[in-house]
Amino acid sequence: MSSNIFSAKKISKFFGHGKKTVCAVNEVSFDIADGEIVSIVGGSGCGKSVLAKIMLGLYKPNGGEFLYKGKPITNTRDHWNEVQSVFQDPFGCFNQFFSIRAQLKDAFGILKNKPSKQEIEQRVDEALLAVNVKPADIEGKYPFELSGGQMQRMLLARIFALKPKVLIADEPTSMVDACVRANILDYLMKLKVELGMTIIFITHDIGLAYYVSDRIFIMHDAKIVEAGDPAEVTQNPQSPHTIKLLEDIPDINREWIKK
Ligand SMILES: Nc1ncnc2c1ncn2[C@@H]1O[C@H](COP(=O)(O)OP(=O)(O)OP(=O)(O)O)[C@@H](O)[C@H]1O
Ligand SMILES: [Mg+2]
Repeated sequence: MSSNIFSAKKISKFFGHGKKTVCAVNEVSFDIADGEIVSIVGGSGCGKSVLAKIMLGLYKPNGGEFLYKGKPITNTRDHWNEVQSVFQDPFGCFNQFFSIRAQLKDAFGILKNKPSKQEIEQRVDEALLAVNVKPADIEGKYPFELSGGQMQRMLLARIFALKPKVLIADEPTSMVDACVRANILDYLMKLKVELGMTIIFITHDIGLAYYVSDRIFIMHDAKIVEAGDPAEVTQNPQSPHTIKLLEDIPDINREWIKK
């Protein structure tokens, strides 16, 4: 029996018809093992988010075979019990008209075996503490009362509370400054170490990918053009697209790559 979380064999995803067809993912193959942190790195429009949505069961590939724990994704609700996401815009993920705490508690509604009310309160408190927020500090607060960085932490608190098996994090650090970004990356590592979570981390920045991952996939123009160990990929890049991404690392993250 394989312990692969995801297994993709030549999967493709097209949008549109005829001459207007856009190929977002083009015959991509990979395996992701249980407990791995894999970063998918590439420029804008190369297909990262479409691949993330295939992993979430939001899109079905037009071709190829895509398996989660050895089986095709048939029931998205069952799938979301185990596989959850953090997307680019934290405000889009919370309703402005309900308190943050109420929404963290509501999030448990997605679970098949919903914990008791008392356990939910406790898990919300623990999750807030895991992202360094005192529960009292957000008591009665609404999303508009928090900064972008604080909201991104609330998204991560939701993940700490629900403890999914797999997390798909699509540019979770895009809205925050360098200091908060380092914190978020540390929380992601904590999710892996403490909960053994499998994490797919999507970014433009190969420096961040190097910092957090067990393995890096480089995407360009709907294909995975290079894949491997972060040290190998950054120190001995084989694809010109990897070299370009290495040149584009913001200076602030460059020091992470040096040994
Ligand atoms: N629902 C859709 N309908 C049509 N085309 C789409 C759709 N979703 C994505 N695309 C196209 O697929 C390609 C890949 O998009 P995707 O969102 O995966 O890029 P990305 O790598 O996530 O980029 P970014 O880094 O800017 O988020 C793009 O050309 C995009 O326009
Ligand atoms: Mg994207």
